[in-house]
Amino acid sequence: MAKFQFPAGFDFGVATSAFQIEGAWNEDGKGPSIWDTFGHTPGKVHLDIPGDRGADHYHRVKEDVALLRQIGVTSYRFSLSWSRLLPAGRGPVNQAGVDFYSQLIDELLAAGIQPNVTLYHWDLPQALEDQGGWINRDVVGAFADYAELAFQSYGDRVRRWATLNEPISIWVGYAMGVFAPGRSDEKTARQALHHALVSHGMGVEAFRASGHAGEIGAVFDIWQRHPATDKPEDLAIADRDEDDGFRFFLDPVLKGDYSERIRRRLTERGTMPEIRDGDLKLISTPIDYLGLNVYSRVVVSAEHYNPRWWVADDKHPGGNFLDNGMEYYPKAVYDAVFMAKEQYGWQGPIFITENGAADGPNVTDPLDDQERINYVAGFLEWIHKAIEDGADVRGYYLWSLMDNYEWAAGYSQKFGIVHLDTETMARTTKASAKWYAEVIRRRGL
Ligand code: NOJ
Repeated sequence: MAKFQFPAGFDFGVATSAFQIEGAWNEDGKGPSIWDTFGHTPGKVHLDIPGDRGADHYHRVKEDVALLRQIGVTSYRFSLSWSRLLPAGRGPVNQAGVDFYSQLIDELLAAGIQPNVTLYHWDLPQALEDQGGWINRDVVGAFADYAELAFQSYGDRVRRWATLNEPISIWVGYAMGVFAPGRSDEKTARQALHHALVSHGMGVEAFRASGHAGEIGAVFDIWQRHPATDKPEDLAIADRDEDDGFRFFLDPVLKGDYSERIRRRLTERGTMPEIRDGDLKLISTPIDYLGLNVYSRVVVSAEHYNPRWWVADDKHPGGNFLDNGMEYYPKAVYDAVFMAKEQYGWQGPIFITENGAADGPNVTDPLDDQERINYVAGFLEWIHKAIEDGADVRGYYLWSLMDNYEWAAGYSQKFGIVHLDTETMARTTKASAKWYAEVIRRRGL
């Protein structure tokens, strides 16, 4: 019996996303997404290498399902490419795209693996971006139609859905210019975020209306901020960055409104989005589960403020940093789960929809990824403890099945438990994949 034994029915999975793995960016009728355009724009992505080939998953579905089966996952989290299904974002359907995911889902089910499908993992159809993208309110209706198509096409077989993955990505793309589409305007970016949240609500409604069995939720990334000192300026930064990082999303989804503090600050900055009647009710349509992506925490200080918070550099005494620069703080997952419970009164199921670590610059043998094993083991131990302490955590998805295209960082950040040769696209399992297979087999550590 494993020391940390997980309850029967706990899902052990891995996660990927369409743009990061599929490739085939312009094949079989797929329309371009904002990430295709962004990658083809000089100076936007690592070494100017676009994600055209991803990890060539589009051509290797059987091989990849065989890998999943070999690892023994009980569930596989992936996303649909909106512009593969609807090349122009709305209107005519690309049957080859519909068939592609249908085949994937059938292969998974035949392998005894439950599909967990995300509708939006950052790859907005370029045709919609050309009309203003997330800034244009019309995107909401387009998203609802896309969601309906997905439920109609796969709702008979998929039992776990997510509307959005990490909507903060839209801020990074519309306010910070770091992600696609590369815009840098705070005011319109806030409006874009609000539209994404309304779209989420429409997606949940569309799922209910479809009458299909199953559960639908959304996925938020939780990087809790720990003030470096108890000076008021550090505490204020922690509050502000948590507001921007996850409360802006969780408040309306779980409490039905943006908080007073957020409203005040955005009003002062002149960036408060326009909210139409009924929006907040839609956004807070009850969901069935909460998806949390948890990688670490962020220690913040006014003195050494790091706006690129996703690469921690606030090294503080006692901090334990991975080779990739991110702090190793596995208790982050326990804290995130209880934050949802204590601060939002969330009583429903939680899935840890992502957790993982990229190789650092000093990796010598990428196949012998002991650091990743230790990292994941630490998070699993804290998830186990959360369950023991009464949290309803139903599953864990390791990011990621294989090395893939890490957005603006291109192929430079490798998160896989399976190695990807970016020339030949050959897959080789790493030590972590073998270790994870053993964890799953024993249902624990
Ligand atoms: C967040 C995103 O959902 C995923 O696409 C990304 O690759 C990982 N975390 C790692 O950064």
